[in-house]
Amino acid sequence: MSKSDDKTAEQDETNQTNQAWGGRFNEPVDAFVARFTASVNFDQRLAQQDIQGSVAHAKMLTQAGVLSADELDLICNGLQEIDSEIASGSFAWSVALEDVHMNIEAALTDRIGIVGKKLHTGRSRNDQVATDIRLWLRDQIDSIQPLFTNLQQGMIELAAAEVATIMPGFTHLQTAQPVTFGHHLLAWNEMLERDFGRLLDCRKRLNQSPLGAAALAGTTYPINRMFTATEMNFDKPTENSLDSVSDRDFAIEFCAFASLLMTHMSRMSEELVLWTSAQFQFINLPDRFCTGSSIMPQKKNPDVPELVRGKTGRVTGHLIALLTLMKSQPLAYNKDNQEDKEPLFDAVDTVVDCLRAFGDMIPAIQTNRDSMYEAARKGFSTATDLADYLVRQGIPFRDSHEIVGKSVAYGVEQNKDLSEMSLKELQQFSGQIGEDVFEVLTLEGSVAARNHIGGTAPDQVRAAADRALELLKARS
Ligand code: ARG
Repeated sequence: MSKSDDKTAEQDETNQTNQAWGGRFNEPVDAFVARFTASVNFDQRLAQQDIQGSVAHAKMLTQAGVLSADELDLICNGLQEIDSEIASGSFAWSVALEDVHMNIEAALTDRIGIVGKKLHTGRSRNDQVATDIRLWLRDQIDSIQPLFTNLQQGMIELAAAEVATIMPGFTHLQTAQPVTFGHHLLAWNEMLERDFGRLLDCRKRLNQSPLGAAALAGTTYPINRMFTATEMNFDKPTENSLDSVSDRDFAIEFCAFASLLMTHMSRMSEELVLWTSAQFQFINLPDRFCTGSSIMPQKKNPDVPELVRGKTGRVTGHLIALLTLMKSQPLAYNKDNQEDKEPLFDAVDTVVDCLRAFGDMIPAIQTNRDSMYEAARKGFSTATDLADYLVRQGIPFRDSHEIVGKSVAYGVEQNKDLSEMSLKELQQFSGQIGEDVFEVLTLEGSVAARNHIGGTAPDQVRAAADRALELLKARS
């Protein structure tokens, strides 16, 4: 077929199928415009929810006396068949029918005849699509929750196994004070715990039914919005019809949640990448999470965390896209809103994949305890402990800071950690230093001394891991 034949065929198809709103039009819509304005290639993902919404609507119309019981049966059976056809992949989607809503409605009418045309009574695609996206996103949120719990469970269990594993804690990526690896992992878990809360919060606010708002002002039929809301497990109907068809806050809120989650996972990824490097060697990631290099035989690259870190950009991009999409839109529905779907879908897909990847990878981390310990011994990580020791001997903190600073300078010169100096060497800097100083100069002593809620002492980390697991249990 030549290019112009293609064009003619495309136009023919368009001419035949835009009957849903063709009544007031003098000429068929241009084939390119039909393709440009169509959303079916992506909004077909909403098919199941579209059918769910239609069934609820049809039941309500029957109660309201708009449809007979027989008509309801026809509609429900027809929709069910279409649902299975879509699920099996045999449904023929048509771009000329614009979107998921009109594709399904046309298929229903093909199947059951004129009764199919009654389904759209008292409703518009505007409230229909708003309902569909809310239903879809709610389903997605419900399947994201266990991914969270699985990841957090693995993370907390690893933390519990590593409560006494000593590693350097960093500020400015410079060795600061020793911490335990379990403590570090539980810091990650706190980020995820807040993200989970934000996810639930988003679900709470989205769980209202916009169905019945119709095009923008409501409908003249005696509809029962409470019924359809309950039928679809929404908490209640939305309050205002103009807002109902135009509000996409829930999509923005989801993307805000997703962006922050990805930001958190990018921070974790960054640390995983650093820790697997030859310079750190704190952990190994099993080979199944890594790839090699086609030129450098020695390479084992931490692809999974790198990719999670990289995917943060697209999710944050989707948040910005949605905010910009909604900016300055006048009430009520505008076609702009059709652009809400692809960013939202991709944000959901990305979050699902990244949570899954992390859920598999985190429990599989192999800890190199010796390398962590060695690293903590370097960099004078117990300097603060020596300063605190001197304070306990009655020396003001500022003076003890000065004394320790001099001891560290000496250590740098002699290439010795504080704990490796003899008592005599240490006493050059203060006569107040006694034999008992070595208790605080050891890494074990240093972490054990930070023994309060939120501190890095192994006992505290163990208790914190228990509390974190309790929170997970309370979820189900
Ligand atoms: N495909 C449209 C969307 O995603 C459905 C609503 C269309 N409404 C309209 N009046 N053109 O937003």
